[in-house]
Amino acid sequence: MSEWTFLAVRQEGAVGVIELARPDVLNALSRQMVAEIVAAVESFDRDEAVRVIVLTGRGRAFAAGADIQEMADDDPIRLEWLNQFADWDRLSLVKTPMIAAVNGLALGGGFELALSCDWIIASAAAEFGFPEVNLGVMPGAGGTQRLTKLIGPKRALEWLWTGARMSAKEAEQLGIVTRVVSPELLMEETMRLAGRLAEQPPLALRLIKEAVQKAVDYPLYEGMQFERKNFYLLFASEDQKEGMAAFLEKRKPRFQGK
Ligand code: HXC
Repeated sequence: MSEWTFLAVRQEGAVGVIELARPDVLNALSRQMVAEIVAAVESFDRDEAVRVIVLTGRGRAFAAGADIQEMADDDPIRLEWLNQFADWDRLSLVKTPMIAAVNGLALGGGFELALSCDWIIASAAAEFGFPEVNLGVMPGAGGTQRLTKLIGPKRALEWLWTGARMSAKEAEQLGIVTRVVSPELLMEETMRLAGRLAEQPPLALRLIKEAVQKAVDYPLYEGMQFERKNFYLLFASEDQKEGMAAFLEKRKPRFQGK
């Protein structure tokens, strides 16, 4: 029996693929489902053979947000004890490159899940939005923060206040989406990009990811210091020796994550 109730998890070469598989409710993110996503992501993150993690959704949605049925009767004290966002926080600590292949609707928590990934590859049919405001609430898993850091406060407010949905194309123009592809080619193109990343030196990818994340949070000077330390650290890797030797010997490098 699969250890996952709401996911289909598989590995294709060096790429770990996690499919949200609750299509009857548009992959609404129940708390158990979020816990499963985090567990699956973390297990891939700790597997040296997995170089890239891809998240996608089954059916017509990536995820239509947190499970409204589950949260309708919540109160602040119960939410405090549940501490559900600790699970979401763990996604930010993942070091392996993560790609969201957004096949359809990515709303509310679904959009936040996609924003937790390093790249969003979107089907041309995908739509993004924060409809929480229409429910009398607001995003809680980083939506106001991540969207604002990406597109600036005034544009973020437009989407967050109106709850309007943005097309894949608009999201690409705003710098949220890395690439828009036709729906039938979404997984093929995502796996092609993931495969290319999987051939890159994994330690460099991880340390670059970490440094880019710091660029969002740190002032320039502190960010530069952080970058420098990671730069030095990579000179302890075999992949640095291999990469530079391969250049000098005019051959293709073979990176091993060591
Ligand atoms: C629970 C959901 C759901 C959700 C859809 N469903 N979204 N169930 N939570 N977020 C269920 C519907 O109840 C329905 O179940 C089935 O999925 C199909 O949805 P329909 O509404 O029939 O489909 P459609 O008419 O095409 O409309 C699609 C939709 C609409 C526009 C996406 O479902 C919708 O507005 N959903 C809610 C979107 C939303 O508000 N998301 C933000 C949630 S708050 P039945 O049983 O009737 O077939 C949030 C906060 C995050 O995300 C905080 C951090 C965790």
